[in-house]
Amino acid sequence: MLLTGSGRLAPAGLSPWALLVRDGRIAWVGAPADAPAGEELVDVGPALVTPGLVDSHTHPIFAGDRSDEAAARLEGAPYTEGGILRTVRATRATDDAALERLVEGRLLAALRAGTTTVECKSGYGLSLEEELRHLRLLRRAASRVPVRVVATFLGAHAVPPEAASMAEYVDHVARDMIPAVAAEGLAEFVDVFADAGFFDLAAVERIGRAAEAAGMGLRLHAEQLTRTGVAELGASLGAASVDHLEQLDAAGVAALAGSRTVATLLPAPALVMRGGLPPARALLDAGANVALASDANAGTYSGFGTMPLVIGLGATLLGMTVPEALSASTAGGARALRRRDLGRVEVGALADLVAWDAEHEGAFALRLGAVRPLRVWMAGEEVPLPV
Ligand code: NIG
Ligand code: FE
Repeated sequence: MLLTGSGRLAPAGLSPWALLVRDGRIAWVGAPADAPAGEELVDVGPALVTPGLVDSHTHPIFAGDRSDEAAARLEGAPYTEGGILRTVRATRATDDAALERLVEGRLLAALRAGTTTVECKSGYGLSLEEELRHLRLLRRAASRVPVRVVATFLGAHAVPPEAASMAEYVDHVARDMIPAVAAEGLAEFVDVFADAGFFDLAAVERIGRAAEAAGMGLRLHAEQLTRTGVAELGASLGAASVDHLEQLDAAGVAALAGSRTVATLLPAPALVMRGGLPPARALLDAGANVALASDANAGTYSGFGTMPLVIGLGATLLGMTVPEALSASTAGGARALRRRDLGRVEVGALADLVAWDAEHEGAFALRLGAVRPLRVWMAGEEVPLPV
């Protein structure tokens, strides 16, 4: 199939453009005049076309509502583990069918907004049985929505009330939960919420080593509420990504710039939490690998299907250029998931593409969240957009 358009193909900015798809992958890109003849032609017209967006940080497996907590926080109430535990209670009390419907709705919202790959964390179960149940439900929901799901086990999200101590729970996560998740192939990555009041550096080390032993990658919630040094620890443990980074300082920026670990920035919860913004400009200027993601979750930002807004916030609130913000939400997110074949318009990449109701990628900044997909292709196959 040959896709062609008279508008822009971003991020390269080719216009007009043509793109050959073979076996779901991009086989050739160039000017229409140079395109191979004899192919089935699909003309996209003047629409802006980009790689499908990659949302490399979400928490969609939960029930309940914490908007009252968000309102209280904006009046000065502190953020504590009590919020996560409230969601854990509500989610444990929700049956399979209802929870699966909630997850499916959130995956559909992502697709409707042009996200073709979405990382999904567990972490509102916090017991072996519940975490396995949530990851199995995620797998079932994902099988019904044409979006790529990358699952992450976040057993270390908060210490559950039934645990005697953080150390005892970390032991359980490392010794029992990670091997059980790996044995069923339920997740590719392990994550830890490493922060004051949650998990400490020793916990990250212990869990990081258990993940490695189980053949799983590591990603971390890092430097969100306090500067702990977990960004450097993550880089030294070979984490795929360290996420949040609102409290990162110059030493942390330098450490990440000198590593393969991606700095994943989450402007939406940073805005809602009013706890400062991550040093996006410093990270980019130092040469770090940067991704943007939504962090849609139960308690600190709950907008599922909002990656167009996240690109706009990267380019406005975080001081990134529009091309930087777009590539952080496509190739950057893919890199954070250790996938070189996603998020790029280049030969060999999977043909996950979106045609937008826009002419230029500047619309993501100008329209802050109001840019919508017209058409979406996954591995070269057009998928119907859910209404
Ligand atoms: O990424 N920081 C930790 N986890 C989520 C919030 C979880 C919650 O409050 O329910 C986050 O912001
Ligand atoms: Fe998160």
